[in-house]
Amino acid sequence: MKIAIGNDHAAPELKLAVVEHLKAQGIECIDMGCAAGEKCDYPNAAAAVCEKVLGGEADLGILICGTGVGMSLAANKFKGIRAACCSECFSARLTREHNNANVLCFGARVVGEGTAMDLVDAFVHTEFSGDERHQRRIDLITAIEERN
Ligand code: RB5
Repeated sequence: MKIAIGNDHAAPELKLAVVEHLKAQGIECIDMGCAAGEKCDYPNAAAAVCEKVLGGEADLGILICGTGVGMSLAANKFKGIRAACCSECFSARLTREHNNANVLCFGARVVGEGTAMDLVDAFVHTEFSGDERHQRRIDLITAIEERN
């Protein structure tokens, strides 16, 4: 599995910790975020990660900013991206199972490192259920995207 990961200046340390955490599980990371000491605008990092996911170079994306909210707003502007901003594991798991989310967002100023790793594990290790009712609802989201 390959994960594209991005961050702004609120989260370079947490991003590195997530990369290490995933690498330790044999999961490859494409780091599109900024380094400590750099300033970077979250929409640019979100775009870089979403392009990797939509282009098939990454299976899933992870975006970390101060709150996770700006990243999710930017990511969800991409057709085909379903980005979920989560701060607890139940949602991180269910957004894969039910929404087939392909990008996880969270805030380095919201969650600590322990919760961040749990969010990442819940998201990365959960598959979409494939259930017809969930797929129908995802198709309705896609239809909204197509109309607007
Ligand atoms: C940057 O200071 C902050 O606005 C950003 O990290 C994020 O929280 C935006 O949603």
